[in-house]
Amino acid sequence: MLIASPDETRTESAITEDEIATGRDITAAELGDTPREYQELVVGLLRGHAAGEAFVLDKDIFSHWAADAPRAEDRFMVLTTIKEELEHALEGWRLLRQLSDLIDWTDLSPVPSGGSRYEGFRHPTTEWAEFAALSALTDRVGCFQQEEQLDCSYVPYAEAVQKVYFPLEKGHAARGRFWLRELCKTDDGLARAQAAVDVWWPRALDMFGRSESSRQHLYIQYRLKKRTNEERRKAYIATVRPELESLGLTVPDNSVGRQFI
Ligand SMILES: [Fe+2]
Ligand SMILES: [Fe+2]
Repeated sequence: MLIASPDETRTESAITEDEIATGRDITAAELGDTPREYQELVVGLLRGHAAGEAFVLDKDIFSHWAADAPRAEDRFMVLTTIKEELEHALEGWRLLRQLSDLIDWTDLSPVPSGGSRYEGFRHPTTEWAEFAALSALTDRVGCFQQEEQLDCSYVPYAEAVQKVYFPLEKGHAARGRFWLRELCKTDDGLARAQAAVDVWWPRALDMFGRSESSRQHLYIQYRLKKRTNEERRKAYIATVRPELESLGLTVPDNSVGRQFI
């Protein structure tokens, strides 16, 4: 992910882990002076944003709803989300380009390919209620991830979360809730929304990652995140489960259908 260090034996950096842990914020120009471990974490986060969003161009998963959504209003809302997810990806690309001296660009592509295509939230949606649930549940996961990064230690990333990522993801999740609410107004729609939530609830919970992941503590130590995966997942469940139930939906048990516990 990073290019080889000129001196791989060098273990000390000008800016130490302790300094970052105790409140020193880092600019793009300073990133090369931080511990390599921190550089890896930051570049990994930025790559995730640059390469994780253009799945909206995938016809089977996402973009066909710009033509197939039920009403004109919905089709334009889908189009807006597509535009914003591409902005999301390009903001990640902009932040990566500030670090061109540090990064190995091999294999970085904005468009998902091959084996990773259907991981996580990348599942084909053939039914409108599934797309509504995908938007309501998985974009909301993004909100819970980003709300604790608004003041994170890497300054360009914190600014991107404040100005781009967090506001956009909140909007996407709100669109999804709107669509679910509309569906739940009729018996048929409620049944379709229920089937979709049964599928997407475990997928959304899985997106928070494994509870025992070792990397999560590094992110916290370097002030790039604040909560463990399980703490974040619990906060999500406490907020989102009652919201869905208020629509008349029955939310599956939190352990059903899960892959990453
Ligand atoms: Fe996004
Ligand atoms: Fe989104």
